[in-house]
Amino acid sequence: MNKEDIKNRIAFLRRVLNDQNHSYYVLNNPVMSDFQFDTFLSELTKLENDNPELKDDNSPTVRVGSDIVKQFVQIEHINQMYSLSNTYSIDDIKDFENRVTKSIEQSPEFVCELKFDGTAISLIYENGKLLRAVTRGDGVVGDDVTANVRTIRSIPLEVYDKSAQDLFEVRGEIFMPHKSFERLNIEREGSGESPFANPRNAAAGTLKTQDSSVVAHRELDFFPYSFISNFSDIKNHFESLTYLKQLGFKTSEHSVLCKSVEDIDEFITKWDKKRKSLPYDTDGIVIKINDYKNQLDLGYTAKAPRWAVAYKFKAEQVKSVLLSVDFQVGRTGAITPVANLEPVKLAGTIVKRASLHNLDQISLLDIRLYDTVLVEKGGEVIPKIVGVDITQRDIFSQPFEFITTCPACGAALVKPEGEAKHFCQNSAGCPPQIIGRIIHFVSRKAMNIDSLGDETIEMLNNEGLIINYSDLFSLSVEDLVPLNRLGQKSAENIVYGIEKSKQNDFERVFFALGIRYVGEVTAKKITKYFGNIDSVISASSQELLEVEEVGEVIANSIIDFFSQESNVEIINKLKQSGVNFVQREKVMLSELLAGKNIIVSGKFSKYTRDEIKNMIELHGGKNLSSVSSNCDYLIAGDKIGPAKLSKAEKLGVVIISEDEFEKMING
Ligand code: IVH
Repeated sequence: MNKEDIKNRIAFLRRVLNDQNHSYYVLNNPVMSDFQFDTFLSELTKLENDNPELKDDNSPTVRVGSDIVKQFVQIEHINQMYSLSNTYSIDDIKDFENRVTKSIEQSPEFVCELKFDGTAISLIYENGKLLRAVTRGDGVVGDDVTANVRTIRSIPLEVYDKSAQDLFEVRGEIFMPHKSFERLNIEREGSGESPFANPRNAAAGTLKTQDSSVVAHRELDFFPYSFISNFSDIKNHFESLTYLKQLGFKTSEHSVLCKSVEDIDEFITKWDKKRKSLPYDTDGIVIKINDYKNQLDLGYTAKAPRWAVAYKFKAEQVKSVLLSVDFQVGRTGAITPVANLEPVKLAGTIVKRASLHNLDQISLLDIRLYDTVLVEKGGEVIPKIVGVDITQRDIFSQPFEFITTCPACGAALVKPEGEAKHFCQNSAGCPPQIIGRIIHFVSRKAMNIDSLGDETIEMLNNEGLIINYSDLFSLSVEDLVPLNRLGQKSAENIVYGIEKSKQNDFERVFFALGIRYVGEVTAKKITKYFGNIDSVISASSQELLEVEEVGEVIANSIIDFFSQESNVEIINKLKQSGVNFVQREKVMLSELLAGKNIIVSGKFSKYTRDEIKNMIELHGGKNLSSVSSNCDYLIAGDKIGPAKLSKAEKLGVVIISEDEFEKMING
């Protein structure tokens, strides 16, 4: 074959294999034998290996994944990913209908869909090919998990429809069907790994796996629920679902049009029962206003669209027997009792553990060992025990006795007055507390060292390489490489991530310290008020109480933290390592942008997006995260999403380039 023939053959094989994937995974109707499929796939793999210049990231050969380890790059969403407001009764839905009818001055048409219980994803297609898949993250920025998503067979790698060659976005839910979930947990338990608590966690965890061949093996699935483009003349949500199907997506066959709250009620009643026989988890239904123009008029609150709500099903309950109780120790020393149950099927999965919260809760329900208990699955990660069937109780049963010493380190437990939980106070010597504090320090909202995972932290602690979080800054690549499973590249990434974290703002560093009751918002207020760590350390209770949001509990906790010599030593060590403990003063450069709301989007040639955002603030402007009617300017860079541009145009936002922005701030 000459080069041209090879190219044509590769294109042919890709097309045929993609079509077969669609028939098999979307239509459930394979047209080719497995043998024929494998023969074509190995021919394509060979041709691609022999002609590496013809490789393509969207070839069906990528479906099997690769074991190349990579860190996830964080990407800003073209359009913010909102969440949904929850409703729990038909009255709430009537209120929703009333609000909408009043606002759009007409009776709306609704679409009712199942609410798939997985993890949200944004898929970007360009020239008909899957370009990028980004997790929801915080709604504004998410992780680029494209390599992993390419292994999900119901997600088209290419769409062949001629009308869809411009950039478009598909959003939907990646989920793990019950069958895959059960198989995965059996495998995990067999290899000594802890099982996933539910399919939602398993799907989210799998998507963040660094090795896409592992993802390929876990058999995730996908349902799309929204389509965003600039080119189509689709006028409503229901049409968009039909179009997605035409493009090759596996759309849910259970979405329906509804004209009234009665129709919606009927849909809810039907699915509250029927969902139990679905092969995947649903935790409710989503009710959307169908018409796009209505959606645009209704707009969004800061967190959710005003044109959609979720209705959450009442949690399902089952009976089981309480076999034993484990006690977990958190990073603050708080003890949480966890019930081990006789395995029981609940909402499609096998439940073996349930949360018991604390002794008060156990006493309140008078839960005893070997009782028949009622278990419920709410929105939480693990199910909870909500009651006891006293009629089944053994006459010799005794009230539950809580432990008196820490299960991890043996120290005596205390139950401080006013607290619901017991605590182990051996904070410096209790392993789960030590590891928990380091995990918190490294976490995304704290120091954000995302190259360092929980298991590696545990390993580093076990090896004696880190006793507290200040030791992280003494780690070298040479320390890490010999550790089990860590290669040179991962070790370099970890050290680089730690080094980079020294530049974090003081508010992050302060939050990362893990002082009890000091959450993100409080950390922000305290660091802004005091400006540097020394002033916080020497602050009196009175001074701390001056800070907005700081009450006696928080003030006492801060004073207690800094009164421990070991904590001050750790802070000194962090300081010596170069960690930032000072609030960086923003010296205002001008008031040229005072009162202006600005959004920055796309790629720029002279500055990074963060640099532009910083300049906006230094000149008195305010950064917005999504286009809205109170936006004054959109600074548009390369590759800006067409949907964002058109929305800005529609709302009359002034669109300017990087150069024009530069001129603006130069007066
Ligand atoms: S629409 C603007 N439709 O629910 C909001 N979401 O609780 C767009 N979800 O993060 C969401 N099934 O991941 C929509 N049929 C469905 C859904 C659905 C599941 C998830 C979604 C979202 C979460 C909000």
